[in-house]
Amino acid sequence: MNSIFHNKQLTLLNTFGLESVAKEFFEFDTEDDLIDLIKSNALNNKKILILGGGSNLLLSEKIKAMVLHSKIKGITVINNDSDTITIEAGSGIVWDDFVQYCVNNNYYGIENLSLIPGTIGASPVQNIGAYGVEAGDLIVGVTGIDLLNGEKRYFTSEECCFGYRSSIFKTTYKNSFLITKVQFRLRKRGILTLGYGDVKAEAESMYGGVTIENVRKAIVSIREKKLPNPDEFGNAGSFFKNPVVTNELAQKLKILYPELPIYQLENGNVKLAAGWMIEATGWKGKTVGSVGVHEKQALVIINKGGAMLNDVLKLADMVTQSVIDKFGVELEMEVNVF
Ligand code: EPU
Repeated sequence: MNSIFHNKQLTLLNTFGLESVAKEFFEFDTEDDLIDLIKSNALNNKKILILGGGSNLLLSEKIKAMVLHSKIKGITVINNDSDTITIEAGSGIVWDDFVQYCVNNNYYGIENLSLIPGTIGASPVQNIGAYGVEAGDLIVGVTGIDLLNGEKRYFTSEECCFGYRSSIFKTTYKNSFLITKVQFRLRKRGILTLGYGDVKAEAESMYGGVTIENVRKAIVSIREKKLPNPDEFGNAGSFFKNPVVTNELAQKLKILYPELPIYQLENGNVKLAAGWMIEATGWKGKTVGSVGVHEKQALVIINKGGAMLNDVLKLADMVTQSVIDKFGVELEMEVNVF
């Protein structure tokens, strides 16, 4: 069986680059390795942190928990018909490597999720999304291990309860169900999602037309322009969620702030652009000690070097308060704190 590491440095395992040491750390290549660990009672009465690519996580300096890190690889075709292909991918695969694999094979649907950091295993937890597509639109099922009893379980897409940046794995099963494999259904014919922002224009003007490959290139280029590279400045992508409010409140805000970008949702509620609101409070590009609000995308908080969890949370509180004061809307963090 793989061994448990003690006092493991996690600084390079979280994209925010926060200094953090885990009391215990276990990584595994197969479901059986994890089941053996559970059956050996090594997890009994212990706090658990499931760590994927660490791209949506703020870590404390000392993690008094057992950290579980999947390295399960493997891509398997499990169904192939004339219109669609269903593929199972291991939770330890880097998300963007899988997107590249699908684009190379002309499997449509996932290309708008290019360059999102993290692993396959985290994609259903957070229901990652970008440019009009969410992972939950493509996922048909999720397999994993219940950490309480070591039993394997399969969730259908419906049972995953996907919502905006949320799922049952982020709520009911937080740190108690470890995802080992995710099944995606992709299309074999070319329907591209081009309605969001500059994707179509960028694919046409920079790359010569809207093919699956060019859409991937356009998304990569748009993301690189707006979002900081974690190798340069630690970050966790969007720090806050875009708040969802009633239509009534959104219309009131629109009268006061006609430029505020809003997105009508199917259930009648309205999503507001948090990045725009933060910029309007004057925080964009500002630094407080070792942390700052990114100068090109106000929804992103960055580590300017040596930041600790409390520095980040202090800035997040200040930004949240400014948005409440100006707009009367409370921002909710998208990142998880452990
Ligand atoms: N905006 C500003 N100033 C800013 C940032 C944004 O005015 O500093 C405005 C933009 O001009 C635009 C609107 O706000 O009109 C929305 O901005 P953008 O298209 O950049 O998207 P976002 O709402 O800020 C969301 C996701 C991103 C995803 C993009 C593209 C959330 C929390 N974030 O950001 O996801 O890449 O849309 O689809 O929903 C992530 O979750 O980590 C992430 C990066």
